[in-house]
Amino acid sequence: MSIAASGPTDERPDISWPLRTERLLIRPATPADAAAVWEYRSLPKVYEWITAAPSSFVEFEYHFSAPERLALTLIVELPGDEPQVIGDLMLRRGDAYAQAEVRDRARDAEVELGWVLNPAYTRRGYATEAIRALMNAAFDQLGAHRVIAACFAANEPSWRVMERLGMRREEYSRASSLHRSGEWMDSMTYAILSSDPR
Ligand SMILES: CC(C)(COP(=O)(O)OP(=O)(O)OC[C@H]1O[C@@H](n2cnc3c(N)ncnc32)[C@H](O)[C@@H]1OP(=O)(O)O)[C@@H](O)C(=O)NCCC(=O)NCCS
Repeated sequence: MSIAASGPTDERPDISWPLRTERLLIRPATPADAAAVWEYRSLPKVYEWITAAPSSFVEFEYHFSAPERLALTLIVELPGDEPQVIGDLMLRRGDAYAQAEVRDRARDAEVELGWVLNPAYTRRGYATEAIRALMNAAFDQLGAHRVIAACFAANEPSWRVMERLGMRREEYSRASSLHRSGEWMDSMTYAILSSDPR
């Protein structure tokens, strides 16, 4: 789910890609990734908690390939001779709230992250490893002040990732988010500051 502040842009964040971790490679998405991403995003257990559940590949590919969406999307790969796409991440920059006199200093101070992993690759620490690398890049390369993320409170695997990353639960909102089932559900917001231990 998404809580970001700024409007759409098709500018890529100024990070030196790819990011490499012990086991993974993280790189900007391209239109050619649509089929690999659709393979897992079309599964009910994956789209249960995410913003959109497109009804066909054609519809998915149309939205995935939009420049403003591609600019937010990173691909998580298992590197090798035949790299395997195992998930995707979102990074969206936004302005923090600031009083008028200091507004310039709050520009792009907040980065929101999101994540989806192919269920064939869950429970191995890949999501935490990839998001940690992206979070570090948000602080160290983009100069972010705060990194935030949100989820339905019922999405335990997602908030467990946030807690493993050292993010703090800052908000628990009752019946604040409407699930496509029609139910108003609780949601949570987590954050970590650049000055926090990582
Ligand atoms: C949210 C999501 C990415 C979490 O995936 P995940 O596999 O639980 O997270 P990780 O890849 O970091 O793996 C961590 C788990 O692997 C276990 N693990 C196994 N081997 C490990 C290793 N070598 N290193 C680290 N963790 C390991 C951890 O103990 C942890 O399990 P636990 O939560 O039961 O303690 C995944 O459930 C998902 O894509 N869901 C659908 C989309 C979604 O909901 N997105 C978020 C919307 S807000």
